[in-house]
Amino acid sequence: MIGLVSLFLGIGGMISYSKGTSPFKGLIGAFHGIGLVLILVGGFGISAKLHYGFPTWMIIKLVIWIALAAMIPLAKREVLKGATLWSVVLILGVLAAYLGIMKPFQG
Ligand code: HEM
Repeated sequence: MIGLVSLFLGIGGMISYSKGTSPFKGLIGAFHGIGLVLILVGGFGISAKLHYGFPTWMIIKLVIWIALAAMIPLAKREVLKGATLWSVVLILGVLAAYLGIMKPFQG
């Protein structure tokens, strides 16, 4: 949960500045990176402890994780920005949470 909050704080911080000009660049990068690591370690840790294996919903979460990792570089280059970036990140975050809570496609 610390990882999740850190990741979204990082992306949220980046969204408010254009072309990576934030004076908090270092802090934003650190929150984003540490958040991502904690999510990955936490996710695989829970999966190992509860013997979930690596079902389809977790593979999709891993793809979302990669997409969220890419959000800072994409924001810096303004490939995605403003409301579009905001919406994409919101949808990806909600989807990842949905997959973790509902655990659909158990295959
Ligand atoms: C990318 C952003 C992610 C978000 C926002 C997210 C969010 C969540 C949320 C809200 C839950 C529900 C927690 C609960 O019911 O107690 C959850 C569960 C879970 N997530 Fe994620 N997750 C993410 C990425 C990942 C990744 C990359 C993995 C695997 C490597 C993963 C593995 C899991 C597992 C195994 C659970 C089940 C926990 C349980 O049954 O107690 N998550 N996730």
